Amino acid sequence: MAGERPSWAPTEVDVERPSAARMYDYFLGGAHNFAVDRQMADQVIATFPGTRRFAQLNRSFLRWSVRLLLDSGVRQFIDLGSGIPTVGNVHETAQRIDADARVVYVDNDPVAYAHSRSILGKNNGAAAINADLRDVDAVLADPTLRGLIDLDQPVGLLTVAVLHFIPDSDDPSAILGRYHDAVVSGSHLVVSHGLAEPRQEGEREDDRSTTVKKVYSRSATPLTLRSESEVAALFGRFAILERPGLVNAGLFSGGDYYDGPDADWGPGVVGIGRKA
Ligand SMILES: C[S@@+](CC[C@H](N)C(=O)[O-])C[C@H]1O[C@@H](n2cnc3c(N)ncnc32)[C@H](O)[C@@H]1O
Repeated sequence: MAGERPSWAPTEVDVERPSAARMYDYFLGGAHNFAVDRQMADQVIATFPGTRRFAQLNRSFLRWSVRLLLDSGVRQFIDLGSGIPTVGNVHETAQRIDADARVVYVDNDPVAYAHSRSILGKNNGAAAINADLRDVDAVLADPTLRGLIDLDQPVGLLTVAVLHFIPDSDDPSAILGRYHDAVVSGSHLVVSHGLAEPRQEGEREDDRSTTVKKVYSRSATPLTLRSESEVAALFGRFAILERPGLVNAGLFSGGDYYDGPDADWGPGVVGIGRKA
């Protein structure tokens, strides 16, 4: 609806242009979205009826991976493309286990940034920055980030449901390679990525993927769905952990690893890599 601008929306936000962050908020049942986002998101849901469930599974995987990394000695997290905060955020999950865990949320969407800042309040171990993850130098040199993250200690780099918004022309492998170079051994890369359908190598994407890509092309963040092997290649020098491996997001439910019926469901793959 033209002119819709709730109090939480920063003035620079174009309320007529859909945003991937606000559409995802809508998938998760949040309230930080506009009519144009809901309209576009409903088109995605009509094309892939499991989209809302996939968003929930994605959040489950995110929380599971944060706990796994804490078990592996990682105490600090950079959440790249963190989104509009919802229940069970990274700092809540991490600081419940280790009160001294530190988290920096990075997003280039103004609503995601503004809302992250407002919910963090006076949390001394967590902060948000408004930055583009492709600008690796700017992200890692950011004074707010450097105030919390010690790059001489292992870092958890979280890229959950965001790399499919980085087109091949921006060379996501090279971007991740630069993060790899900047962190120490024992650091981890967490990935969740939308899959091109059908998943078999050599086959063309089906009409549904094309429809969804058309929807996102109206937003500031067009979608690049990739095959499993293309996602595997994005890990580069981060060695993919055997558990969970590169698996379907359906293996994560209720915030935990889930091996029950329908476990291999979902239009995305997830995995965790480690720097040797
Ligand atoms: C689908 S949401 C995922 C949010 C969160 N990671 C999760 O999994 O729940 C993708 C987020 O990535 C952000 N994003 C997309 N491209 C980005 C970029 N180049 N730099 C920083 N953030 C980006 C969007 O604004 C959006 O908030």
